[in-house]
Amino acid sequence: MTTSATPQAAALPRIAVLATGGTIAGSAPDAANTAGYQAGVIGVAQLLAAVPGLDSVAQIHAEQVASVDSKDMSFALWSTLAQRVNELLASDDIDGVVITHGTDTLEETAYVLHLTVKSAKPVILTAAMRPASALSADGPLNLLNAVTLAASGQAGGQGVLVAFNNRIHCARDVAKISTYAVDAFQSPEIGALGWVQDGRVEFQRRALRPHTVDTPFGAAIQWPQVEIVTSYAGVSRLAVDALVSAGVRGIVVAGTGNGSIHATLQQALSDAVAKGIPVVRASRVGSGHVMHNGAAKDDALGFVSAGTLSPFKARVLLMLALATGTSEKAELQRVFDTY
Ligand code: SIN
Repeated sequence: MTTSATPQAAALPRIAVLATGGTIAGSAPDAANTAGYQAGVIGVAQLLAAVPGLDSVAQIHAEQVASVDSKDMSFALWSTLAQRVNELLASDDIDGVVITHGTDTLEETAYVLHLTVKSAKPVILTAAMRPASALSADGPLNLLNAVTLAASGQAGGQGVLVAFNNRIHCARDVAKISTYAVDAFQSPEIGALGWVQDGRVEFQRRALRPHTVDTPFGAAIQWPQVEIVTSYAGVSRLAVDALVSAGVRGIVVAGTGNGSIHATLQQALSDAVAKGIPVVRASRVGSGHVMHNGAAKDDALGFVSAGTLSPFKARVLLMLALATGTSEKAELQRVFDTY
């Protein structure tokens, strides 16, 4: 679906809005309901129609790529989305892409695209915490801000960005930090890149790590099976041993504190490494970084440290690295130190 352009509108940037579902497209039986609703039921045309003034910001080309609750995000949809974004951005007719998404796995999809999109044109993800049917729904303003950012001429070359509650986040850093609040996303430790307000975009800093055109990764892959285990009081080695028996290709451990690991779990993971399964050590804390050879002796145990990546993003990077044939420990550590 493409909006027809008046002569004035024809001068505006051409932004593709790809809808995938989520609460931003959610509907509840009554306006006070912000928890017991169905996500991903409202179509992209209706989402756009709820945003006043959008047609004075950009010419919109809209596509419904999926209608899912993002808790059910799949590898197939990641690959489809990355491929469609690449196709659209390769066209001279599109200046940027905005993706509407559920909040629950937005940070994972954003990082997948950050590493696999092959264009310097802007790609912005946005979402909402309240369904479209709610009093004070946050989706329309988030969508307007996302399109404003994509059309601003300032978001290119910065990898995939997330526009949420007026802030601009880097896909690598952003995390959902509230189950219910409208201000649900932060970039812990590092902070937002800038903000969008009242039609104005202001960046305060840029993300430094390579992304998009500067990575060797693509999403047209067979996604290798990589799972996450967590360290906690009294944890057993049951989950790790089951994963190893099942033939898992890699394991990320969400350690305590600075990525420390219960001795029982650490032994199981070190046994997995001895069987050729890469293990990446992250933290369940949600902020800070996991220092190489810090809380665990990575080199002696054969582990890779995740640095500032959350366990969920470490899993994304490990899957992409394994899919490109990188499985040797020192090379994997270089990948984690780079991206
Ligand atoms: C979802 O992630 O699709 C549902 C939750 C949300 O978007 O806030």
